[in-house]
Amino acid sequence: MPLPDSFMQDLKSRNDIVDVVSSYVSLKKRGRNYVGLCPFHNEKTPSFNLYPENGSFFCFGCETGGDVITFIRKIENLDYMEAVRFLAQRAGIAVPETGYDDGLSKIRARILEINRETAKYYHQILVSETGKTGLEYLQKRGLSSRTIRHFGLGYAPSERFALVDHLRSLRYSAEDMIAANVAVRTRSGSAMDRFFDRVMFPIIDLRGNVIAFGGRIMTNEKPKYLNTSDTPVFQKSESLFAMNYAKNHCTDSLILAEGYMDVIALHQAGFQNTVATLGTALTSAQARLMARYTKEVVLCYDSDEAGQRAASRAVPILRGAGLLVKIIAVPGGKDPDEFIRSHPSDGAIRFRKLIESGANDIEYSLSKIRLKNNLQSDAGRVNYLREAIMVLASIDNELERDIYAGRVSSETGAEKTTILAQAKNQRRKDLKKREEKSFQKIENSLSFVRDDHNPQKHEFFRASNAEEDILAFLFANPDQAVAISDILSPDVFCTDFNRRLYKLILERINETVTTSLSLSDFSESLSSQEQSALAGILAKRSDVPLTRHDIEECIGVLQFENQKKKTRNLEDMNSEDFQEYLAMLRKNKA
Ligand code: UTP
Ligand code: MN
Repeated sequence: MPLPDSFMQDLKSRNDIVDVVSSYVSLKKRGRNYVGLCPFHNEKTPSFNLYPENGSFFCFGCETGGDVITFIRKIENLDYMEAVRFLAQRAGIAVPETGYDDGLSKIRARILEINRETAKYYHQILVSETGKTGLEYLQKRGLSSRTIRHFGLGYAPSERFALVDHLRSLRYSAEDMIAANVAVRTRSGSAMDRFFDRVMFPIIDLRGNVIAFGGRIMTNEKPKYLNTSDTPVFQKSESLFAMNYAKNHCTDSLILAEGYMDVIALHQAGFQNTVATLGTALTSAQARLMARYTKEVVLCYDSDEAGQRAASRAVPILRGAGLLVKIIAVPGGKDPDEFIRSHPSDGAIRFRKLIESGANDIEYSLSKIRLKNNLQSDAGRVNYLREAIMVLASIDNELERDIYAGRVSSETGAEKTTILAQAKNQRRKDLKKREEKSFQKIENSLSFVRDDHNPQKHEFFRASNAEEDILAFLFANPDQAVAISDILSPDVFCTDFNRRLYKLILERINETVTTSLSLSDFSESLSSQEQSALAGILAKRSDVPLTRHDIEECIGVLQFENQKKKTRNLEDMNSEDFQEYLAMLRKNKA
């Protein structure tokens, strides 16, 4: 059963799309609309557009679009009902009990419950007699009982069915335990614990849900850590360990470390703004998540070669999300956890000093190319200069660029003004290249060549353009719907997708007396990809409003194309089909 209309109206009117979006994206007003940097892909020039009049957004860069609910679904990674609840909570209204819930959101809810029970169970075991080895291990690694409680650490006992038996006593099914990936299926088909004889680290999302676990073995056996595989509630490439705590301590900066133990040791030492990826390379989704809460990231990866390589790969991803980046190297080949523990009396103070003296990524890049080139030789200096200018050209802030140009000048003896001029020149070239690229993208999207939702589009190119004009016009002028539907039957549409939209829009206008339509009016009848497509149709026509006269021309085009389509079908028919067609005509006459 769908949610009642009155509730949806209320939900929409209390969640103005401009308000909602502006808490994630910094928006600039442009005419009646807004633009900003798209939160769904990395970009430097804004192609994310917001249209308050019809409650939609559309990004011309990545072609993501939709209404306020879709926006929340995508940015908070929620399903439809969860996004509705999220917005209801934001507006302080109650979601009516309708029994409506899709299968996925039910299984997600069950997995989250199972995870919570599992975390509770492992923690209880850790502090019981059975968990003694686990607790001793964590204590030996310097964790206080307060820290252990704070992070909800646990111990998975060594029997193979301990957790499964416990969860069964709480009436969870084997299917659900396996879906949560806290259990695996044995060859006989029953469920067996996934983790045994490991200390357990629960991974908690921003809303406090336990979404996954990492489990460390206490010996030198492999694998050292066993982690939950991706489940309906967990995507490891999008989550960050301890972000649930760090988000409240990171107005200045976040520290990005590599491992669970580094994060926990740093939190215990007072650096509660530390997070880590979950054993994978940093992704842009994780960088964007950080960028929503802070402006600077201090990269603190292991000082081994693998760690340093990972750090240099992370820099452009973080910068791409608009973050400032600082890099620190922990001395003595140690990871942050070992560093803190190797200075029992003043580890925290020393670590703070490390951060303060940490190089930002510009210094880091410069020092890397400096090491590659011998500055004593002319050739080395020239090569260094050339590479340094590329680095300087990537700096957005002029003051910052000036400072580093000064440094390069004193290292090489070249004039600072010349260096700056060269960097500016390079910068212009880079920007131009980037603009051409993003213009190309917009061109591509305007030429409608690729459209997965409307596969008939390239076949009926002219007709589908006319159809889309008509849809956009109706959207902005619902009062004209009766007049248009009188002269344009849905049958005249050439593409099925647009015909369906046309019918939906007419239905919607018929149902409610309204002066304007909003994309949310269709959130229950269209999939989120279809909504994206409709948002695109509207966005591409938002600059020049269509007139009634345009629409009459469009109707003319449609009628013409439709006729052509019919005759083309006749041409394509083989003689058998043709006989059948004639028979049908005769029957219809009779
Ligand atoms: P590390 O090997 O640096 O682990 O891996 P660590 O956090 O310092 O752990 P300790 O100090 O040896 O106990 C860094 C991160 O990579 C992931 C984990 O998230 C780990 O914290 N990892 C590592 C795995 O997922 N599986 C592994 O087998 C190893
Ligand atoms: Mn370690």
